[in-house]
Amino acid sequence: MEKELKNINFTVIENGIKIPISTRHGSYANLMYLLKEELQLESFGECGGVGRCATCVVKTKGITGNSVIKDRKEPATLFKLGFHEANVRLSCQIYITADLNGAEISLFEI
Ligand code: FES
Repeated sequence: MEKELKNINFTVIENGIKIPISTRHGSYANLMYLLKEELQLESFGECGGVGRCATCVVKTKGITGNSVIKDRKEPATLFKLGFHEANVRLSCQIYITADLNGAEISLFEI
């Protein structure tokens, strides 16, 4: 419980610019919603987080704990679209937890 009350701090990199994010456990349903809202990203997370569209794809560095595990539809969706790197993730499949502390989340440049 106490762990959940501490701030979670990580960095988002958008077009080479580092954006510090400070949030709380469960502040959004998942990382996709946080990124979409905080960075006002259009055309991001189009399937609403069910793991099918891959419009929420990001590169990650430094994520820890259970959040490193690709689960549910994530591996199949990424594989189908040619993403084979372990650090490429669907942000909708990553929850806002302490596993994000100190991580770097890079958006793909469009
Ligand atoms: S929002 Fe569609 S796969 Fe993540």
